[in-house]
Amino acid sequence: MDFKEGQYKVRNLGLADEGRKLMDWAESRMPVMMKLRDKYRETQPLKGYRIAGCLHVTKETGVLIRALRDAGAEVSWSGCNPLSTHDAVAAALAAEGVLMYAWHGLNTEEFYWCIEQTLLINPNLTLDDGADLIFTVHNKHPEMVPNVIGGTEETTTGVHRLRAMAADGALQYPVIAVNDAETKWDFDNVYGTGQSTLDGIIRATSVMLAGKNFVVAGYGHCGKGVALRAKGMGANVIVTEVKPTAALKATLEGMRVMEMDEAAKVGDIFVTATGIRDILVKEHFESMKDGAIICNTGHYDCEINIGDLDSLTNNKRTIRDNNEEYTMPDGRRIYLLAQGRLVNLAAAEGHPSEVMDMSFANQFMSQLRLAEMHKSGNPWDNTVYDIPAEQDQEIARVKLETMGINIDELSPEQIEYADDYAAGT
Ligand code: ADE
Repeated sequence: MDFKEGQYKVRNLGLADEGRKLMDWAESRMPVMMKLRDKYRETQPLKGYRIAGCLHVTKETGVLIRALRDAGAEVSWSGCNPLSTHDAVAAALAAEGVLMYAWHGLNTEEFYWCIEQTLLINPNLTLDDGADLIFTVHNKHPEMVPNVIGGTEETTTGVHRLRAMAADGALQYPVIAVNDAETKWDFDNVYGTGQSTLDGIIRATSVMLAGKNFVVAGYGHCGKGVALRAKGMGANVIVTEVKPTAALKATLEGMRVMEMDEAAKVGDIFVTATGIRDILVKEHFESMKDGAIICNTGHYDCEINIGDLDSLTNNKRTIRDNNEEYTMPDGRRIYLLAQGRLVNLAAAEGHPSEVMDMSFANQFMSQLRLAEMHKSGNPWDNTVYDIPAEQDQEIARVKLETMGINIDELSPEQIEYADDYAAGT
């Protein structure tokens, strides 16, 4: 392990060259981020701001960190999941002077140690994916709260918990819900999760998806993305849900909907995408077919009850990277991928750069908004804020422009017509 006190702790600084090339590759796929980086390099709107980040250390995150740094910020960083850090990227960023505390495969104690190290810069902005950093500041370092102007949150699970915190009056600084931007959830959650989850399953198993009974638990944006992509690959998709409208949408989109107790008996591959604990538990494992593959693409590793799985067998072996075989007393085998952690980041490389381009443009713009709010001297309330609609449209407009796609504009007469409440048939 390479460790320089107060500066970084990464697996191996010798991987920096590899990581640099990966980030350069990601940059070539992230034109919106590159435009933002160029634009704000001159004006340095983040000068004087210290950002602590806790978000998957991937090549795309490297592009975000480089942009924040080039806009003037001092940046310290940890990964937000024990298995998602790309060690080469972490090394490259540490070599570029980012205060980086992240390595693949760290344990829970080390995970929180890394967060603590990022707080040594005494941040005035936080950037989260899953809200672990915000929770650490609130619960363990209340003395830091007065210095923090605000934070941003990347993911559905984090935003959900932060809204609950705000409703209880427990949130101590404003947070922007990056997840809830249309240019985030309607693209990253759907197409990003869809593609990267299948990528993770395929890398960990090399199974054919066509003809398989493919069970997706949860038909939110992420579950829908996974289901659509699996269907596109020829799988027979089964959806389990608790929300009537979501179940209905899945049905009308051509998926079979049933309870997990039934799905467990027929599924070949199971993906949990709910954000809720205990989706697959003992009675499901007891009824699964021999050879069933189970994995999770939700933020936390609580959706598959691994304790239950362990309790059913003491016969376990590693088949290949990210693929553990559990043999039941009756001889049936169940294959758990990526230890029940985010299969798309642990067994693959997370969402493609092209889609992270928009998610991270929202992150970057939101950090700028918080800095502007601070400079204006008008602090916001301690609650969760949405992304302004104009930011969404601007990011989508630039993305289209970089893709060489032109769209129409309403004429003044058309705008007048749309607003004319006296007009009828
Ligand atoms: N979340 C999902 N995919 C990601 C990626 N490629 N980088 C950072 N966070 C992610």
